[in-house]
Amino acid sequence: MKLLVIGAGGREHALAWCLAKTPGLQRVFVAPGNAGTAAERELENVNITDLDALADFAEEEKVSLTVVGPEAPLAAGIVNVFRARGLRIFGPTREAAQLESSKDFAKRFMARHRIPTARFETFTDRAAAHAYLDQQGAPIVVKADGLAAGKGVVVAMTLADAHAAIDRMLPEADDRRSENASPARVLIEEFLEGEEASFIVMVDGKGVLPLASSQDHKRIGDGDSGANTGGMGAYSPALVVTPEVHARTMREIILPTVRGMAAEGIPYTGFLYAGLMIGKDGSVKTVEFNCRLGDPEAQPILMRLKSDLFTLLEHAIAGRLEQVEATWDRRVALGVVLAAANYPDTPRTGDVITGLPAASEDRHVFHAGTAEKDDQIVTAGGRVLCVTALGDNVKLAQKRAYHAIIGIHFDGMQYRHDIGHRALTR
Ligand code: AMP
Ligand code: GLY
Repeated sequence: MKLLVIGAGGREHALAWCLAKTPGLQRVFVAPGNAGTAAERELENVNITDLDALADFAEEEKVSLTVVGPEAPLAAGIVNVFRARGLRIFGPTREAAQLESSKDFAKRFMARHRIPTARFETFTDRAAAHAYLDQQGAPIVVKADGLAAGKGVVVAMTLADAHAAIDRMLPEADDRRSENASPARVLIEEFLEGEEASFIVMVDGKGVLPLASSQDHKRIGDGDSGANTGGMGAYSPALVVTPEVHARTMREIILPTVRGMAAEGIPYTGFLYAGLMIGKDGSVKTVEFNCRLGDPEAQPILMRLKSDLFTLLEHAIAGRLEQVEATWDRRVALGVVLAAANYPDTPRTGDVITGLPAASEDRHVFHAGTAEKDDQIVTAGGRVLCVTALGDNVKLAQKRAYHAIIGIHFDGMQYRHDIGHRALTR
């Protein structure tokens, strides 16, 4: 049996590593993969990214099931392409992926189905956006519509910052490059207070299987300071997701979303990630949806998964998720991202990586932006590695992950020293 994972990041390394444990497996292909997936015994990188070429490959190799990691191929319709050719794939269609690819779609959908989220207005006109800001005041949140890899969001603590964000995201009407280009669009959103957590589920169109909870660290710097990134580290489970918060999230957010999508004729299949803001009063609001697993959340989550991932995926594709349960290692998993020089702006590539520790039962270094060059492993992207470890509690998992980092080196390496801090100061 052969499986295919699409993508090149840490999340995809974790997915492929997890699938490599499938009984009866011949091979997991990773397209295009990275130096980490190249090095694992059961994994094989294939250098294909074009959607039709990927479908050709899956057909030729008789791949039994394909899993998609990142949002871009999903938003481009890879699931539509594979399904049209009768190939089994887990992910949302292009239409369903709009929950992530269009913030405007997601917000309107949530409004129609009374799913709790921040109040918002959408603007294409600069003057109107500025006027609305003045009327609302700060703090306030400005978001560009469309996929922006976490960089299209400005949480403005002052009105001046918010106005500047509008000027950056909404060009003057005369500046628009082409008559045919769709106008830029921004959302202006109410600022939500609370603690964030990532709530990720598998969906088969109607049934839902929740995965273990997790918490990401979006800012580049210790103490949640500095620029927003794709995520600098994560751990699972997230203590802030109490049984009550879990139940409320399922009842108020996840189930209404899955039912609402089905009712609107765009049934959702695939991983569904709700970014939550959990208020002091236990209320839960949706900050965003993603149509995929989180990165780096997937690394600690999948390290804790004891069930066979392939079995879960098979049930999901067959629409039988209600018949399975996932079991989790009761230990905490914690992953620290090692990022390249100049991440998140213009990460430098080509720095040689040394001192990678061997994997063990309770520790794994998942690769993200890495490549092989002249028999060496070099940096090839913003987030380079995610060092992930298991421990009996957050403190021990943290200790083990940071211990594993000590020997790793590449020029310009940056990482946060406080992954898991919210769990430790609760
Ligand atoms: P997004 O790309 O929508 O997930 O936003 C990126 C980050 O900005 C989130 O993880 C939050 O930390 C922050 N953020 C987004 N929307 C809000 C909001 N309405 N209130 C407070 N913080 C927000
Ligand atoms: N770590 C956040 C994300 O995957 O969107």
